Amino acid sequence: MPAPALAVLDGQVLPADEARLPVTDEGLLRGDGVFEVLRVYGGRPFAVEDHLRRMARSAANLRLELDTEALRADLVALLSAAGALDGCVRLLVTRGGRRIGLVEPLKGSSQPLALACIEYVPPRVLDEIKSLSYGANMLATRLARERGADEALLVSPHGRVLEGPTSTLFASLDGTSLVTPPLSDRVLDSITRRRLLAVLPVAREEVVTRDELRGAREAFLASTTREVQAIATIDGEPLPSVPGPLTEAAARAFADHVRHELEH
Ligand SMILES: Cc1ncc(COP(=O)(O)O)c(C=O)c1O
Repeated sequence: MPAPALAVLDGQVLPADEARLPVTDEGLLRGDGVFEVLRVYGGRPFAVEDHLRRMARSAANLRLELDTEALRADLVALLSAAGALDGCVRLLVTRGGRRIGLVEPLKGSSQPLALACIEYVPPRVLDEIKSLSYGANMLATRLARERGADEALLVSPHGRVLEGPTSTLFASLDGTSLVTPPLSDRVLDSITRRRLLAVLPVAREEVVTRDELRGAREAFLASTTREVQAIATIDGEPLPSVPGPLTEAAARAFADHVRHELEH
């Protein structure tokens, strides 16, 4: 039998199915809180400081109290109980003042993805807040699946490509460079995106329209959980190169970057 999933609740490590929250917590009632998902490789968490910094910024922007040192201690306690974990840790802080950490397995496949474009307007007031209000993002994925795709690609009403519901988009329009939508288009300041922009000299921020994406040579989604995952089709139209050479190079560069950082 697999070991029960672990949680940490306000500093106490326990089986996830025994962790209890008051039903009056506004984190539950209104999605009022913040969260992060970290990747753990062989028990070692990647980019901890980046995630804690983004979480503190989210909390400050949401006018939510957050104790970074307590979260760091929760993470250490959870990881030492979880052993040589290959998976993820989800950290949450709710308006009710609860700190939650959950060990999660990696979900989904690494196969090239079919995407469906879903119209989306990022709520301006939640800029630079990774909040618990993810109902719209989860619905976008469900709508994409109803259309036979694996995942949604969020596109503004004016036809600007934004991001996936839980991932960043990179595309090559010319076959030699990669572009990813700029933060000014209100996409999440993704940690994987930042790292890829730093390690890939051919990658840059640039507005991408749905029409331009129709002519893309190759594209991929990037995130903490997906790392680099090739896109096979967008709205049923196949991309010419799957996975393309720039996607494969990005996957290799990211894997090397993670390995190097975990070793040092
Ligand atoms: C909306 C959105 N965009 C992009 C990402 C990817 O961010 P990261 O690379 O920090 O995992 C996420 C991750 O959850 C997300 O929710």
